[in-house]
Amino acid sequence: MFNKKINIKNIKPNTKFIGKNITCLKVTDSTNTLAKNTPCENGDIFIAETQTAGKGRMGREWTSEKKSGIYLSVALMPDIDSLCINQLTLVMGVAVCKTLKELYKLPFEIKWPNDIVINGKKVCGILTEGVIEKNKVLKAIVGIGINVNNKEFTDELKQKATSLYILTNKKSEREKIINRFAEIFEQHYLMFINVGIKSIIEEFKKLSATINKDVEIIKNNQIIKAYAFDISENGELMVKKEDGTTLTVNSGEVSVRGIYGYN
Ligand code: BTN
Repeated sequence: MFNKKINIKNIKPNTKFIGKNITCLKVTDSTNTLAKNTPCENGDIFIAETQTAGKGRMGREWTSEKKSGIYLSVALMPDIDSLCINQLTLVMGVAVCKTLKELYKLPFEIKWPNDIVINGKKVCGILTEGVIEKNKVLKAIVGIGINVNNKEFTDELKQKATSLYILTNKKSEREKIINRFAEIFEQHYLMFINVGIKSIIEEFKKLSATINKDVEIIKNNQIIKAYAFDISENGELMVKKEDGTTLTVNSGEVSVRGIYGYN
């Protein structure tokens, strides 16, 4: 019962195009790679019960415990410049955070740029990739890994990861989360396309666990201590360094660490 597989018949979001076509596999290397390599339409969703080579940000591995988490990628064809592709991570972060808050009534937050956290522990990670030609995004793939029914984590992950099961002591139906997520994501994606990133950033700031915190920016093995005070209009993190100068941080190659706990 605990390890029930996803029943694709129960995935029926009330959306116009997000999740109109859904591919659900028992196993794949990475749903992001699958979405990248499969000819598809705007909004198609790819899900797997487990991944043999799940990818995290900055070349890290994403552990994909069988039938426990949600490993899902959305393929999108936005008419945007390649420089803007990371903004989709913020759109996704807002959508996942709002979905989890609505369904679980718990204080989930977004750790800039791509983690959904609660009480200093990560419950979801987001990885955005693109197929780019001449500075245009031909296809963007936004993947999410949500820890849902995971009962425990390895010693290494325990300190920084949690799951919806650990938080609530109840098993969740992954189909229900996917349905509501697809609806909320569609609303926010349309807001991004029709109104622009500014409206998303306003929402992001309200949900942010990073703003008004001391942080450490880790880039090329160098640690910069700073205070995060805002998100720029392009979605970059704005920090004040110890010498008083301001730094605008793009999500590309940096990792941000809160100095008090994982946030
Ligand atoms: C991170 O926190 O570093 C990002 C993790 C993203 C994991 C998801 S799981 C579904 C999709 N497929 C992948 O290979 N990665 C993303």
